[in-house]
Amino acid sequence: MRTYHLAVVVGSNRKESINRRLAEAMARLLPPNFEVSYPRIDDLPMYNMDLEGDRPESVNRFTAEIAAADAVAVVMPEHNRSLPAVLKNAIDWGSKPMENNVWRDKPTAITGTTPGAIGTAVGQQHLRQILGILGALVLGGEAYIQFKPDLLDENGDIANDGTRAFLQGHVDRFVSLIESLTPE
Ligand SMILES: Cc1cc2nc3c(=O)[nH]c(=O)nc-3n(C[C@H](O)[C@H](O)[C@H](O)COP(=O)(O)O)c2cc1C
Repeated sequence: MRTYHLAVVVGSNRKESINRRLAEAMARLLPPNFEVSYPRIDDLPMYNMDLEGDRPESVNRFTAEIAAADAVAVVMPEHNRSLPAVLKNAIDWGSKPMENNVWRDKPTAITGTTPGAIGTAVGQQHLRQILGILGALVLGGEAYIQFKPDLLDENGDIANDGTRAFLQGHVDRFVSLIESLTPE
């Protein structure tokens, strides 16, 4: 059975990020032939075209990690009903130069959590639009999770059976998409 590499991009630079905790819980819902990494985005400088030609090391590291991945999962909060600036910055670095756009044809899934009832739903629409323009193959459907203190149990797993089943369905659909798009 082929091993797949999934890059999980957490769209938060907060140490105690609830999205990082959700991302780690969701990674445990993947089948065993999926390896996961968490590319950093918090050390990327603000995109500046003047840096093209001699890109900072952190940028080269990030874009190489995304380029090498079979698929990307974005797990992000929502900032003012859009995607966090730290994530948009990472996407911008990956989108240039156009001929090296790392997002093109990349199977990508979007999830996220905030304490708000519809938290991340609107932000996800913005992200979907951006990734669509960049040519990513974004999984259809929506998965936004309201964060409550009891979302995760003491092991960091999704505590509620219904929420876990919902997210397992989302993960399973993403796995099927990745397998259908990538050769054995
Ligand atoms: C600048 C800013 C804007 C925010 N805007 C929203 C928002 O539009 N919708 C929402 O549900 N939460 C919003 N929040 C609250 C975040 O959801 C909350 O800080 C959450 O913990 C962020 O996730 P993280 O812990 O993974 O960073 C905002 C927070 C900040 C700092």
